[in-house]
Amino acid sequence: MTSNPWWRSAAVYQVYIRSFGDGNGDGVGDIAGIRSRLGYLRELGVDAVWINPWYVSPMVDGGYDVADYRDIDPTFGTLGEVLAFIEAAHDHGLRVIVDMVPNHCSAEHPWFRAAVAAPPGAAERKRFHFRPGRGQTGELAPNNWRSSFGGPAWTRVADPDGTPGEWYLHVFAPEQPDFNWDNPEVRSEFLDILRFWLDRGVDGFRIDAADRLAKDPALPDVAAVIEEAPGPERGYPAAHEIYRGWRRVADSYPGDRVLVGEIWLELRHRAAYHAPGELHTSFSLDLMCSPWDGPALRAVIDANLESSAATGTPLTWVLGNHDATRVVTRYGREDTRFVQVGGTGGDHGRPAGHSDHALGTRRARAAALLMMALPGGLYLYQGDELSLWEVEDIAPELIADPVWERSGHTDRGRDGCRVPLPWSGSAAPFGFSPDHADSPPWLPQPAAWRSLTAAAQSADPDSTLGLYRAALRIRRAEPGLGDGPLTWLPSGRDVLAFGRPGEFACAVNLSAGPIELPAHRSVVLTSGPLAGGLLPPDTAAWLRAA
Ligand code: BGC
Repeated sequence: MTSNPWWRSAAVYQVYIRSFGDGNGDGVGDIAGIRSRLGYLRELGVDAVWINPWYVSPMVDGGYDVADYRDIDPTFGTLGEVLAFIEAAHDHGLRVIVDMVPNHCSAEHPWFRAAVAAPPGAAERKRFHFRPGRGQTGELAPNNWRSSFGGPAWTRVADPDGTPGEWYLHVFAPEQPDFNWDNPEVRSEFLDILRFWLDRGVDGFRIDAADRLAKDPALPDVAAVIEEAPGPERGYPAAHEIYRGWRRVADSYPGDRVLVGEIWLELRHRAAYHAPGELHTSFSLDLMCSPWDGPALRAVIDANLESSAATGTPLTWVLGNHDATRVVTRYGREDTRFVQVGGTGGDHGRPAGHSDHALGTRRARAAALLMMALPGGLYLYQGDELSLWEVEDIAPELIADPVWERSGHTDRGRDGCRVPLPWSGSAAPFGFSPDHADSPPWLPQPAAWRSLTAAAQSADPDSTLGLYRAALRIRRAEPGLGDGPLTWLPSGRDVLAFGRPGEFACAVNLSAGPIELPAHRSVVLTSGPLAGGLLPPDTAAWLRAA
């Protein structure tokens, strides 16, 4: 590993493949669609892409139900196209991070099909969590765990003779059976899958639900009261041994390959995964979950900086992803947080309510400058650079997210942030699909996105796309940005003002009125116009300090 690996400071662009670009006109994004837009990503100024799962999948959960980890779903293209894409991305100076989904597979995975066909106690069943039910005839689930998508985390299978049999565990949808990570076969299979992709040139893995693999082997009930420590269904110590093995594999390849964990745990528990020899980094999701509020954001930043200093792990900030309400919509609401209750509670308590998109956009632009000025790296979710908002009126019959059904139609799920990108033109499909495509985009795009297309914003330096391009360009050239120290500057309670090496400063005004800028020689970039030299509310400025 080099002393300053790329992932300590990288700006990574998240490609939700179904919704990025459709090359073949079937209304669903694909590899050809990403490849043809590599120029856009290079011009945007990111260092890497993370691509959501592209493996063979029945697509019950947007590809997070993998039936073959070593091949590509035909909806997205072929393995050959992927290999050519990885090479083309590298030629564009972009690294490629792929999604690895180790907690569960698809119910269509050959191992799970074999497990269901095998009798209780068979070796095939031991790769998963099969258990007899409770109650007189086994009619009750083995424990009280709830699926993160709502409903119980257990489903009962029929024995080969048709009588009701054992139950299997799925902490997400029933079509996503959990692997049994105490089984050495599972462990070695995944080491082999990692090598398969590393051999094909990927630069790292985003590890899906990284804290869910290892469970308390007794699978005890979850306590009714939320406990201090992660419960028996996540964060169990065996996870650390698993990731030490993964790390050894990743580090045995040249080129600083990275392991990034998706870990929805409180910071101090998440940090345990950053122990020496484990994950290189994990998402700092706290920024996304924090309200748009000065003291709250400052507390989150301080806590993350402290944790990063303690473990030597760089921060990777996130404002949005394919699971969260779009940042513009969140910041335009009364309640500006993102709440991922999930877990075994099965309760998706995402705040809702009217959103003022103009206000949300102003704040999201300021937050982008804040995030890009903070120490560490960052992940940008596709479309945030266009100020896309959450689409909240998708017709129920078009909703694909399993959360909608599993929640008994009380939670519309995550499709609202997964609507295909608008690239150009004045009407759907807005260049997402080729002209004369066979099918419309898999989710309908709002007509109002005509003013937000990449083409419309490209020409306008004041657009959000213009702001992102300028900020990423400056961030790259500025030696004090990325990984490194931060010094808070004196400021009011509702202002975030800090310095970075090289006399660089960032100020964000979260108060209700305009404020004086901190002492500076020049203004480098602002997220919105200054007002008579003052920084207006919900605006950020990058400065060359005095
Ligand atoms: C992914 C989700 C997915 C879930 C199950 C998550 O954390 O980001 O999109 O539904 O894991 O794989």
